[in-house]
Amino acid sequence: MENKNIGVEREHWGSRFGFIMAAAGSAIGLGNIWRFPYLAGDNGGAAFIIVYLIAAFLIGFTVMLCEFAIGRAGQQNAIGSFKKLAAGTPWWITGAFGVLAAFLILSFYGVVAGWTMAYVWMTISGSFTGVPADQLPGIFVGFITNPIQPIIWQAIFMVLTVGIVIAGIKGGIEKWSKILMPAIVAILFILMFRGMTLEGGMAGVAFILNPDWSQITGKVILAALGQAFFSLSLGMGTMITYGSYLEKKENMPSSAATVIGLDTGIAILAGFAIFPALFAVGLEPSQGAGLVFMVLPAVFDTIPFGMFFGTIFFLLLAIAALTSAISILEVVVAYVKDEFNIPRATTSVVVGFVIFLLGVTASLSMGAWSHIVIPWPGTEGINLFDFYDNFSAKVLLPLGGLLISLFTVWVWKPENAFREITNEGKLSFAWLPAFKIMAGIIAPIVIVIVLLYGFGVFGAGI
Ligand code: PHE
Repeated sequence: MENKNIGVEREHWGSRFGFIMAAAGSAIGLGNIWRFPYLAGDNGGAAFIIVYLIAAFLIGFTVMLCEFAIGRAGQQNAIGSFKKLAAGTPWWITGAFGVLAAFLILSFYGVVAGWTMAYVWMTISGSFTGVPADQLPGIFVGFITNPIQPIIWQAIFMVLTVGIVIAGIKGGIEKWSKILMPAIVAILFILMFRGMTLEGGMAGVAFILNPDWSQITGKVILAALGQAFFSLSLGMGTMITYGSYLEKKENMPSSAATVIGLDTGIAILAGFAIFPALFAVGLEPSQGAGLVFMVLPAVFDTIPFGMFFGTIFFLLLAIAALTSAISILEVVVAYVKDEFNIPRATTSVVVGFVIFLLGVTASLSMGAWSHIVIPWPGTEGINLFDFYDNFSAKVLLPLGGLLISLFTVWVWKPENAFREITNEGKLSFAWLPAFKIMAGIIAPIVIVIVLLYGFGVFGAGI
């Protein structure tokens, strides 16, 4: 399709700091504070963290740099950038997978974000005070299977998300990321200090610092890779879209390394906040996905000033989810607004509403619609919520990452990518040859293995 926006100046980030906060805000989300700690808890603590670091800094760095370069060179949304760089080829489909992934991810992500907001309210209003630990799972399940309440919270969260995206890049996404990201870091430090100073909390620190290598299996390595994609917001064009708002002078390799460093740092800080508190009250770290909602309220009810710490913990989750949700919505909004020339505000409201409706089906599938079962390899069938999650995180994101790295080296060609990455040769990037091998050969091979694994080809799936 021809670009109708020719002549219209594309909005750009106001500062390097603002861009880094926005990109880190996208990366840092429920994936870091909810998913990473329980994955580490289930998969051997420190050993998992080390494998994750390797995956994030090698594969994650490569794909993120490809995305930034494609976006900045194209100066278009996730689909438009491919059309611009490889006109007349079907490679734009890579971006189309990304837009599809954005719909699916934000639909269930908005539901979980709604739960975190409800937990802020429930903690402040004393719903967990004096409640025995064994009743918490019942409270959680009772809440998420309710046909109305979770949807109201999800709606509130989606309104906030749409509100920020309507305000645009500089005035919305960048402005709010600059406020909310430092808040996340401050809250995490308070929680970490609280956890580590609890009597018995050091056992949790030891759990994070002492690797148990015997726990490292193929399954753990692949779980770490899958987590790296989700946590770094890669494979669906988020970083292409954010890259398209970059000025030509930005140093992209150093930005990518900074974003990955911040994302990983926050995930590890979250571990330092959560595990010491768990160990201090004698709970096990391997509690699976319910860790945050079904176990932590009991921890907060036990420790001094727990209601305050519990409230800021769930607030932290909600804020982290918000800065990620705006980046997911922006992928779709940028596409619709660029390609169809519809104003940002109209696009944001309409797209946000459609995603909200899809999210309602995810929320209902926890209770009223739990009879709707979608076939999935390695299972007896999953509900809509798990389907949106699995299909996007295990299929669309790795597939997107694979196509993005292959495109960069084999279609757009390394010389063009290098010219973009080095700012027309003005920037030295010593790892260029290694980057070519990583993006063109190693990352694609590793991703194909993850993809097949996610499909259950090697067994039960991640
Ligand atoms: N990275 C976000 C998190 O860790 C989730 C996300 C995935 C955001 C894909 C954008 C794109 O929670």
